[in-house]
Amino acid sequence: MSRFWVETVAGLKPYVPGEQPASVSLVKLNTNEHALPPSAAVLDAIRAIEGDDLRRYPDPAAAKLRSMIGSAESLSPEHVFVGNGSDEVLAHLWFGFLSGRPVQTLDTTYGFYPVWARLYGSELIEVPVHSDFSADLESLTGSANAIVLANPNAPTGLALSRKEIEALVATNRDRLVVIDEAYYGFGAESAAPLVPEYDNLIITRSLSKSHALAGLRVGYALAQPELIEGLNRVKDSFNSYPLDAVAQAAAAAAIDDSDWLLHASAVVAESRQVMADGLIELGFEVLPSLANFIFVRHQQLSGARLFDELRVRDMLVRRWDHARISEWLRISVGTRAQADQLLHGVREILQANAP
Ligand SMILES: Cc1ncc(COP(=O)(O)O)c(C=O)c1O
Repeated sequence: MSRFWVETVAGLKPYVPGEQPASVSLVKLNTNEHALPPSAAVLDAIRAIEGDDLRRYPDPAAAKLRSMIGSAESLSPEHVFVGNGSDEVLAHLWFGFLSGRPVQTLDTTYGFYPVWARLYGSELIEVPVHSDFSADLESLTGSANAIVLANPNAPTGLALSRKEIEALVATNRDRLVVIDEAYYGFGAESAAPLVPEYDNLIITRSLSKSHALAGLRVGYALAQPELIEGLNRVKDSFNSYPLDAVAQAAAAAAIDDSDWLLHASAVVAESRQVMADGLIELGFEVLPSLANFIFVRHQQLSGARLFDELRVRDMLVRRWDHARISEWLRISVGTRAQADQLLHGVREILQANAP
């Protein structure tokens, strides 16, 4: 705390991201990074960067990248906004469309939403999920100006269908519906085809998970041009060049390699099944996930104990102290080898803690 801090900064409760340990020998299943390395085309694009690309400022509008993202979704570049990770896109969106306004979300969801709500002075109405963690869509129609949902949701991995999202968007035409599709690409239906029809829908996506590019920091939004223009006004009031030249070139190569996405998503889905089946066999409850992580709870062993015992065995997963989910662990889907290591470790822990 410094005497130079303004009051707002003193009152902030910043988001705490998952640990990024220096040790590479850890089985790191705590921040939902992709199990595979990114497409080789991405690394080629980075190697092809020349001195002049770095000497000059990058294209502030990221026109080529936005056009490629748009084409992949049958949308125009004017329907696309890109930013430095989807967290930045969401932050701009919150500032531009939700500041000072009541916003509904779920009581079990991405931990950054309350941080932005506080930062931008929105009242955050956290609607309780059902006991199985599914969203209570009936309760999401009230007086708030906007609804923010992650789909698939984090940390549960549960997904709503496009039909359910459309019903929500269609019955709330005067409220903005934000669908955070950070975990798009692992089996859930996207709401992107609804964009041309609804001016109250905005979708955010990330290349961090689906394209194995968490280190590159690229995210984007899809919405009708009037909303995108609002985001550009916010962006150009913070930083005109959020995406550097390397990120623009690498992200374009990633979007272009749709075969990689199909292959990598199939690998994750298969590994997710192996992990889920193995854990169910060991007495875990596993929520049906359409993301690259699973949310699990053991019938006998506490979440805290399991977390600690895994950590001792060099396996890092994610756990929160919030009452509703304190017994649960969120485990990122790793490679098949990591899935085997995890199951082996859990078996050992259960044997060592057998009553
Ligand atoms: C639900 C959700 N939204 C957004 C993000 C932000 O992703 P990024 O900033 O890496 O694009 C995350 C990251 O964990 C997430 O879980």
